[in-house]
Amino acid sequence: ARVSRLLIRNARIARPDGSVSEGDLLCEDGRIGGLGPAPGARADEEIDAQGKLLLPGVIDPQVHFREPGKEYKEGLASGSRAAVRGGVTSFLEMPNTDPSTTTQAALDDKLARAAKASVANYGFFIGATADNLDALNSAAPVCGIKIFMGASTGSLLVDKAEDLERIFAHGTRLIAVHAEDEARIRERKAQFKGRTDYAVHSEIRDNACALRATELVLALSKKYKRRLHILHLSTREEVELLRRDKPAWVTAEVIPNHLFLNTADYATQGARVQMNPPIRQPADNAALWAGLHDGAIDFIATDHAPHTLDEKRRPYPESPAGMPGVETSLPLLLTEMQAGRCTLAEIQKWMCWGPAAAYGIPNKGKI
Ligand code: DOR
Repeated sequence: ARVSRLLIRNARIARPDGSVSEGDLLCEDGRIGGLGPAPGARADEEIDAQGKLLLPGVIDPQVHFREPGKEYKEGLASGSRAAVRGGVTSFLEMPNTDPSTTTQAALDDKLARAAKASVANYGFFIGATADNLDALNSAAPVCGIKIFMGASTGSLLVDKAEDLERIFAHGTRLIAVHAEDEARIRERKAQFKGRTDYAVHSEIRDNACALRATELVLALSKKYKRRLHILHLSTREEVELLRRDKPAWVTAEVIPNHLFLNTADYATQGARVQMNPPIRQPADNAALWAGLHDGAIDFIATDHAPHTLDEKRRPYPESPAGMPGVETSLPLLLTEMQAGRCTLAEIQKWMCWGPAAAYGIPNKGKI
């Protein structure tokens, strides 16, 4: 069969160690076929990069693309286009769609939709309920099991200790956890009843909600030596915990919202910055950056979770939680790099090969 060739000329090609090689890159049938000066190479398509930086495709390992069921917010066609517009060429998508992705049939439906609609590479999580243990371990192909320990958008929730333990005790797949303690959230919702300012969201779902849940899943992961990934780490307390105590089979991520935003932003943005886990204090922003730099946190995802502006204009607590982000994460981090706050090597670790290594995605993340 004929090989299709794409030649990108005059690029500054980012290497995994953070160095840059100036030259040309040849893609053959979508795979890297060669690097270096290729003046005579014949290609079907040529792009003159004009000295721009050429990065490996970013992998966003946590997005919510809302299909099926809530396509008025987002779909696999629009979400994947936003992704590639922002340099994200692969995404891992969450199961809190409608219906939830908790069975092989629901997974097959998503895969068929993605095969038609997505312009990026994709993988899907299977969602845990209290009673779908067999599907969690047999549904395929999946990138992992997703557990919501605290209720968020959709109906997925596993908040009983014995249900959680059963999932950790049976099987070997990666378990990705949204770690917020549901009992404490409910308690504090009652306590703060009557407050309708959006900022109360961060008070209800406080740092202790996140820390308690993270401590519990870390203990379960250690007890069963079970591969655990902690989604969207948001507090300084969790960073300190993982810095002290992170087994080799545990990884953690942070999202730009928790790096760049804090509770001061409710004043100007209102529900637009309402998400779960919530935005926190400047001290948490600083601790999350430090955790990324020292390896307590392994990589960056976005938790891209769009809602409509009409929904976001509802009064609290009817306003939904979640912010978009898949299109803006790489520009934000490149801006940080230009300001000298992180390096080209770190961006590739946090956004390209780090997620690829954690999820066992072959042939991606490094040029
Ligand atoms: O704020 C959030 N929104 N956090 C989640 O965990 C889910 C997400 C969504 O799907 O809207």
